[in-house]
Amino acid sequence: MGGPQGSASGSVSLIDTQQAHQENSPLNAWRLNWTVSHSDTLDLIREGQFVGDLESVVEPLRSIDWEDTSSVEETCRKALEQLNTNRGILRKALYDLPNRPELLALCEHPSPVDTAELGQQLDKLVLYEDETGFRVRMHIFWSGCDDLPHNHRWSFASMILKGQFRHLLYGLETYEDTMQLPIPKPLQVRIERVGSIYALHHSMLHALVAEENAVSLFIRGPVVKERGYLVDPKTGKRIWHLGVAEETPEAIARKRMTPELLSELTAKLDEWGILG
Ligand SMILES: [Fe+2]
Repeated sequence: MGGPQGSASGSVSLIDTQQAHQENSPLNAWRLNWTVSHSDTLDLIREGQFVGDLESVVEPLRSIDWEDTSSVEETCRKALEQLNTNRGILRKALYDLPNRPELLALCEHPSPVDTAELGQQLDKLVLYEDETGFRVRMHIFWSGCDDLPHNHRWSFASMILKGQFRHLLYGLETYEDTMQLPIPKPLQVRIERVGSIYALHHSMLHALVAEENAVSLFIRGPVVKERGYLVDPKTGKRIWHLGVAEETPEAIARKRMTPELLSELTAKLDEWGILG
């Protein structure tokens, strides 16, 4: 058993309505409401309409050397392609989220207070977390998402499911307090279209510009740094990005995924045909 308790897999831990009625909490209100609002899809899942198992698909990722980007790409590509052709696995994991508080707590909706200056207008749905530290996420980028150059606290691999991005690659991170101005121009610019898969080492500075509403399937490797940064192109200064453990309760509350937001995102993903 690699992940947290329960399973975002074939044996989806669908909501136990009777138990939920007995427990009075905001989470249970969410679960009950979700059960009622999505009863048709949940019935199909119970009947086994969506085959496949997320945990089995990602099992080979447990032995990845995340410092070896070639290995990250090769192993994650296989998992991403399997999930792309078996979208029902994603649907099952997404519909199980209200029953997975530990994953819900990791989901994020961007708050303008925190991200307006940073351009990172994307929702993050965390579908799986492994005990070795990697996660499977779905990212929903809204038109106008225009990143600042940044590195990451982890290496990752991503597959585009909808829309397209301009992908700007700046080269290796540096650690002086302020970058020289003007900041270096990208060394490579590419277009990432539906079906594109790429892997990036945590030390690479890059930026994504969503040219329309876009969705990616994202495998985030284990955290290897306390903080990452974005670069303000006007001043060259770093804007440090800490892990959630270092964020204020107010900032965490501002980006919390709510029942209403999850329902809206699910409806959008269905409208776009992302969930198979
Ligand atoms: Fe990034």
